[in-house]
Formats: sequence, C-alpha cells, structure tokens
Amino acid sequence: MAFKVGLLGLGTVGTGTVKILLDPAQRNPLLKDVVLHRVGVRSLHKPREVDLPPDCLTTDLAAIVSDPEVDIVVELIGGIEPARSLILEAIDHRKHVVTANKALIALHGEEIFEAAAEAGVYVLLEAAVGGGIPVIEPLKQSLCANRIQSISGIVNGTTNYILTRMQKEGGSFLDMLEAAQHLGYAEADPTADVDGWDAADKIAILASLAFGERVRRSEVYSEGIRQVTTTDILYADRLGFVIKLLALAHRVTPPTAEPDQPHVIDIRVHPTLVAKGHPLASVNGVYNAILVEGDPIGQVMFYGPGAGAGPTASAVMSDVLNIAALLTVERGNSAMVSATVSAAVSAAPR
Ligand code: HSE
Repeated sequence: MAFKVGLLGLGTVGTGTVKILLDPAQRNPLLKDVVLHRVGVRSLHKPREVDLPPDCLTTDLAAIVSDPEVDIVVELIGGIEPARSLILEAIDHRKHVVTANKALIALHGEEIFEAAAEAGVYVLLEAAVGGGIPVIEPLKQSLCANRIQSISGIVNGTTNYILTRMQKEGGSFLDMLEAAQHLGYAEADPTADVDGWDAADKIAILASLAFGERVRRSEVYSEGIRQVTTTDILYADRLGFVIKLLALAHRVTPPTAEPDQPHVIDIRVHPTLVAKGHPLASVNGVYNAILVEGDPIGQVMFYGPGAGAGPTASAVMSDVLNIAALLTVERGNSAMVSATVSAAVSAAPR
C-alpha cells in the first residue's frame, strides 16, 4: 500500500524532510510505502542539496493539493497566505495534512481543524512547536487524563541560542543573530523570533491543547529580546539568575471558585530572570524545553533540539508516518502495523 506525499516547500526543513524520505538506511518499515510524489518550489533552477527527478519539482503548488494521486500534503512554506488557502484546498480534496506552520495554526487553527473534521482527514503539527521534541502528540494523548495547570517553556531556538552565546561569550546581539540565521534556526524574517511572536504562536497552540479550549493568539502578551544587553546578562549572573525568553501559560482559578467555575488563562512571552537552579536555566543553545504541570501527574519536562533542519524534519516525518500507520489500519491492513510494532520491539535495546 503506497502513501503519496505532496511536499510544499523545499527550504531548510523541506530539504531535511526529503533527506529522511529518500534515505535508504531508514529502518521504519512503513517508510518503504511512503512515496515522495511531487515537490512544490518557488524556483525550479535553484541549486539543491537533494537530488530529485526534474519532473518531481513544480512551481504549481495548487496542482499538488488537488492532485488525485496525493494522499498526504506536507506544508512547509510557512506564513499565512498562500499556506492557509493551500491547506484548506488540500482538505477540500480530502488530503491529510502535516504542517510545521505555527503562525498559521495559532491564527487559523480553528478554521483548519473544523474543515478537517468535516472532511474526515487528519491534520498533524508535531513540528510546529519545539522542533524535534515530541510535545504536541504527548499533550494530546499521553497527558490527556490530566488537568493541566501550567506550561512554562523555552520554545524559540533562535533567541535561546542568542541569549546563551551572549551569556557565555559576551557576544553582541546582532552577531549572534547572524550566526543563528546561518545555522538555519531563524525564521525567514527573524523579527518573528527576536520580538517573541514565534514563541507567542507556539504557546497559544500549546495552551489550546493543554487547557482544551481555544486560546487566541491575540490574547498572548509578547515581548522579545532586542532590549536585552550583555550588561543585563552580567548583572543577572551576579545575582544568581540567567535571562531566558519564556513562554508561560497558567490556568488561574479564583481561590474561592467552585470546581466547575470558569478559570482565566494568563498567557505571555517575555525575557525572564530564571534562578540558576531551575530546570529551565540550564537549557542552552538551540535547545528548547517545555515544563508542564498537571494533576495528577505533577511536573513533566520535554527537552531537545528546538530548531534546525534535522530535528524539525524528524517531527514532520513522525506525523507523516503516523498518518500512514492510521490509514493502514483504516484500510484494513492491520497486519502491517503489527509488523511495524514487532520490528520496533525486536529492535529496542534490552
Ligand atoms: N525559528 C524557530 C526557532 C524555528 O528558532 O525556534 C523552529 O520553530
């Protein structure tokens, strides 16, 4: 059974995704059934890191989302339009969708998920938050029996990379930003990173999932790191703190409230003094961490590489393979999934 992928965008993460798709050493047995069918790009003549047959590439992205052969559309172009229209068009053509587009989901997630529910297709977004860290699916699934009280996270790799290097080397903000762009961490327009908008998109998504209600992007107060100087970092250090750009969401219940009384959600992004002993203080470089507090579980921290081609592509491909596994079951071939599970179990270290 083949699952054909139509990929929109061949930038940093798109290239990383193609590398996984075409890697003969990949061992996930489902991957042999996932076929890269078409790739939508802005220019056909740009030099590429990956070798693709010329007829695989097209500049006609609309043709990909309506192609009857495509099962799964992977949207990696970013931004609001044309990404929103292309995803809605794909859903309309009953394609499943994988996206890393946090800005789009934070702003138009409700419209997209409603359309997906109506069409009976999956829309997965593991790569939208935390780069390679599995956090979206765990929040949706593994923690679903909890009442989540708070999320505190470092969810932007670019700013954490900049702040870490400013702290460790005393380097200037602009030099460190240039290095982060060079490493492929920053957004096409790094304003979204340094002014806290990217982190605000991500915390709006996490809070919506964690608290089980729509948290509007416009409700998130956001302040970036442009004003943070090496002097601030030095003084913080002397007082026993590091400066981190934190994304915070807390469920605030009035002290006298009945259990079913409505709560409010306090949600914000800003540079924060973090005591050196706090688990988030030692999250450095491009790494992200998301600390979730819930009842009855207590504290759980998700930690890992928060940006970059390989980690983000790992999250994108986990969604593609999850959809392939779900469709395999739906199409009545559960034997293949059992084989996948057995292969994973027998390959697991003992
Ligand atoms: N620009 C983003 C970051 C990419 O630095 O975290 C991953 O979402």
